[in-house]
Amino acid sequence: MNAETQQDHPLDEFSAIDGNADAGRYLAQFWQPVALSRDYVPGTAKRIKILGNHYTLYRGDEGEMQMVQDRCPHRGTSLAYGWVEGNCIRCRYHGWKFSGDGAGVEFPAETATYERSIRLDAHPVREYLGVVFAYLGGGEAPEFVRYPELEDEDAGELVSMSVTLPYNYFQRVENDVDEVHIYYVHREFMASFGLVDLPRITAKETDYGLVCTTARSDGSKFHTHLHMPNAFLREAAIGQDKDNLAIHAAWRVPIDDVSTLSVMIDRVKNYDPAARESEKEMIDPTVIAERILAGEYTLEEIDQTHPLLPVIQDTVAMAGQGLVADRKAENLGQSDRALGLLRRIWSRELKALREERPLKSWQRSPGAKLPMFEAAPDAESVAAAVDAGVTPANS
Ligand code: FES
Ligand SMILES: [Fe+2]
Repeated sequence: MNAETQQDHPLDEFSAIDGNADAGRYLAQFWQPVALSRDYVPGTAKRIKILGNHYTLYRGDEGEMQMVQDRCPHRGTSLAYGWVEGNCIRCRYHGWKFSGDGAGVEFPAETATYERSIRLDAHPVREYLGVVFAYLGGGEAPEFVRYPELEDEDAGELVSMSVTLPYNYFQRVENDVDEVHIYYVHREFMASFGLVDLPRITAKETDYGLVCTTARSDGSKFHTHLHMPNAFLREAAIGQDKDNLAIHAAWRVPIDDVSTLSVMIDRVKNYDPAARESEKEMIDPTVIAERILAGEYTLEEIDQTHPLLPVIQDTVAMAGQGLVADRKAENLGQSDRALGLLRRIWSRELKALREERPLKSWQRSPGAKLPMFEAAPDAESVAAAVDAGVTPANS
């Protein structure tokens, strides 16, 4: 991060996740992405931090992912620096060994009668489209939400990525329903698709969260689907494919109060070979953003072919709000109505959580794809519909 090392604004009900805060407890009730599958070959263990807590995430020798508490119950070192043995993890300090479900297996320097009930907290894990998801909320895990849009192999190549963002996660969630920013922060991407006029924005709550619909003067529409609490899905212009909109899903998961794990899964139609090549030498996009925020150079001066240029642009905008945005000092307008709806929904659910009342059960119809882009109706069909006295669907 730039010179700031402390949070620079007070946390609010959306941004505070550490220390058993309401938003952290709420997020923990959903499956969350925690890592990329490709970063864990069999036998790999790593220490990760999610929702304010450390965990040991490892892949057993047979390939199964496991997620357990990080702290060894003997004397508290991190288990992530231990050895993976089969489906178990052995602590490197004094050799205690636990299975993936948390059960104590060996206590080598202890007597045969040593307390066998010592175990780890273990968390359900599953892999989906190249991403490791975990459920950290305790009790039975909810049903896993699948995205048929991302499973469609005809829609392009599957590309899964993650970046660590140097600011509070809720700024990133809010940005996912902020259509206007696209026309400024990512201006050149939109312009390359001829999308230059600012749209009319509407938003409504749905069974899975909310949909933000943006209608343009040519009659085309984009639908952005925010899946409660912190995932979104839309078609997006990205650097890897200059000719087609990609199907783009992203989850914004708090690491702690001032940093965020952003996990993205895309379906990219024509992956540009030059973009793929440049990814091998990619400088971390947030490092570039930090240098811009530190005044070392401008957004115009950086490599415009960086494969994650949109991430750099977004990071400058959102880290520019501060490590934690000050929502009390804002002036919102009608173009922020999707943001307003998002906050109202979140506030309602957090209030219910605090008061121990039932929460809304968010769901998607299994297998049904959500509409994302509606092309402008062609002139002939509009004329025919008008002749027939029918209101065109896109009007
Ligand atoms: S701290 Fe893990 S075995 Fe001693
Ligand atoms: Fe953006």
